[in-house]
Amino acid sequence: MTDSSHKSPEVENDGDFRVHVFSSSSELLEKLHEKWSSVEKQPYPAMYSSIYGGIILDPAMMVIPIDDHMVHRGHGVFDTAIVLDGYLYELDVHLDRFLRSASKAKISSPFSRSSLRSILIQLTAVSKCKSGTLRFWLSAGPGDFLLSSTGCPTSAFYAVVIHHDFSQCKEGVKVITSKIPMKAPLFATVKNVNYLPNVLSVMEAEEKGAFSSVWVDEAGYIAEGPNVNVAFITQDKELVMPSFENILLGCTAKRLLELAPKLVDEGLLKGVATKSLTMAQGKDAAEMMYVGSTLPLLPIIEWDDQPIGNARVGELTMLLSDLLWDDMVAGPDTQRIPVPYV
Ligand SMILES: Cc1ncc(COP(=O)(O)O)c(C=O)c1O
Repeated sequence: MTDSSHKSPEVENDGDFRVHVFSSSSELLEKLHEKWSSVEKQPYPAMYSSIYGGIILDPAMMVIPIDDHMVHRGHGVFDTAIVLDGYLYELDVHLDRFLRSASKAKISSPFSRSSLRSILIQLTAVSKCKSGTLRFWLSAGPGDFLLSSTGCPTSAFYAVVIHHDFSQCKEGVKVITSKIPMKAPLFATVKNVNYLPNVLSVMEAEEKGAFSSVWVDEAGYIAEGPNVNVAFITQDKELVMPSFENILLGCTAKRLLELAPKLVDEGLLKGVATKSLTMAQGKDAAEMMYVGSTLPLLPIIEWDDQPIGNARVGELTMLLSDLLWDDMVAGPDTQRIPVPYV
């Protein structure tokens, strides 16, 4: 910072950078509110924190303790569900995966599954958000700064609602094979907060003018994208997804595998399978797509500068996209929980 006339309380004086000390919490709060006062629409209408023991509406207070094991050691797991048209889509499937991740990360929840579920639904209701994402975390909790979490007496649960408008993806994107090493199966199958490889992988793609990337393992088999699964339509019209032993089992991929047999019954697809697929087989596919909660399906038309099929958005891809989209906006009650807005 070079301009000492701006609003920052930190002052630079003759090259001697003096750090401001906040004299009171009210002064600090005022500073935090200053930041949010210029924001036209608050993107995070509500947060839950088990540390506070309630729902927070003030964005300036949506914070996590610095001694939380998730903050300084990455000892936390998370998940994301979608809010669409005032319904929570597949909340229970996300919650099940969340608790499986927590168990593998040796984090016990401070609440029962039904209490977690109730908190998430109440939070969404209070947020008044009808379209967005509901992101939630379980952490080993605050305590100390050591490696072991034995000094963290109580685990912590955080959740936030984020406004976001969704629409069906109809344009195709380009992808690259990631050069960032992929995670070992233990870490890839647990949805934990260590997303540095995922972050670098998507940034690598953006730097190369691609939308995102695809991980291929050392043996040459296709794995997944940095926050999505991948799916293919083979030349003989089979829907194939790489098997999930070593990657994250996506909730959307799982649902797609349940819905896609309808196209087999209609004679449009020849079959639906999860199996190992080499990069060469993937690049030879007729159609390719990303599959993930916030998409839910995104056509891929080029991989490493090579066209996929005829380099146009595939017909079967769009039929699968319609199946998922219809499920999100008008699917059965088991998939969609109505949010009891107040
Ligand atoms: C690494 C990774 N793979 C796949 C997915 C897709 O999972 P979902 O369909 O549950 O969003 C995600 C997103 O959660 C992810 O982070």
